[in-house]
Amino acid sequence: MAALRGALRVATLTAGARRAESGSLASSCLADRRLWDQLHARPRPGSSPTFDWFFGYDEAQTLLLPFLQRAPAAGPTRVLDVGCGTSGLCMGLYTKCPHPVDVLGVDFSPVAVAHMNSLLEGGQGQTLCPGHPTSRLRFMQADAKNLEPVATSGFFHLVLDKGTWDAVVRGGLPGAHQLLSECLRVLNPQGTLIQFSDEDPDVRMPNLEKGSPGWTVSVQELGPFQGISYFAYLFQGQQ
Ligand SMILES: C[S@@+](CC[C@H](N)C(=O)[O-])C[C@H]1O[C@@H](n2cnc3c(N)ncnc32)[C@H](O)[C@@H]1O
Repeated sequence: MAALRGALRVATLTAGARRAESGSLASSCLADRRLWDQLHARPRPGSSPTFDWFFGYDEAQTLLLPFLQRAPAAGPTRVLDVGCGTSGLCMGLYTKCPHPVDVLGVDFSPVAVAHMNSLLEGGQGQTLCPGHPTSRLRFMQADAKNLEPVATSGFFHLVLDKGTWDAVVRGGLPGAHQLLSECLRVLNPQGTLIQFSDEDPDVRMPNLEKGSPGWTVSVQELGPFQGISYFAYLFQGQQ
């Protein structure tokens, strides 16, 4: 982690991307899997087994919990985290959410997915206890721009993207729109997609609205966390 902070010594993705462009990763692109494999392979700082690019489950839970409550007979809330990296978000959902959740984290980096699976298997002395006895947690490698191998249309009740649009858009808007389109395809029509980012709504909203016809997009400010304001972009079906 110290190495990651050394290369991208910032709390925000936007600033991190700028730093990556001007530093030793100058020729790399945040949409490129090889760069992410390198970043995920770097040691994490301190004793934390996970690394969040910016804030974590504890900061997001007030927003998330209302979306995780369902009638008991309806079964667990199916949650997808696209571009989960080595973030603690999925772990937090699994271990701290008091409601039943079935959480799947996907990332195109096999390095990140291997790390998260090793934590699930008890690596680094982790003992993971679910916040609800029927909750589940899994990780798999997948390109979030093509979620066909992951799920059928409408499968998930809640889809989360924490910093992944921000990385993918570095490779161009068409790729980011493909990511958004896939997130919305696997989302239940009554479900919600939430993108977390530090990107300003003035910049982001036009691109999101263009890429999500038929969905209502709204924004909530989060934080500030460590002096930085973030935004949650919510996509919901028009009911
Ligand atoms: C800024 S990091 C955010 C990681 C994590 N969500 C967090 O909040 O710490 C972006 C993540 O997106 C992943 N990623 C980028 N493009 C992707 C794609 N096309 N499919 C799946 N994952 C992708 C990267 O490997 C990285 O883990």
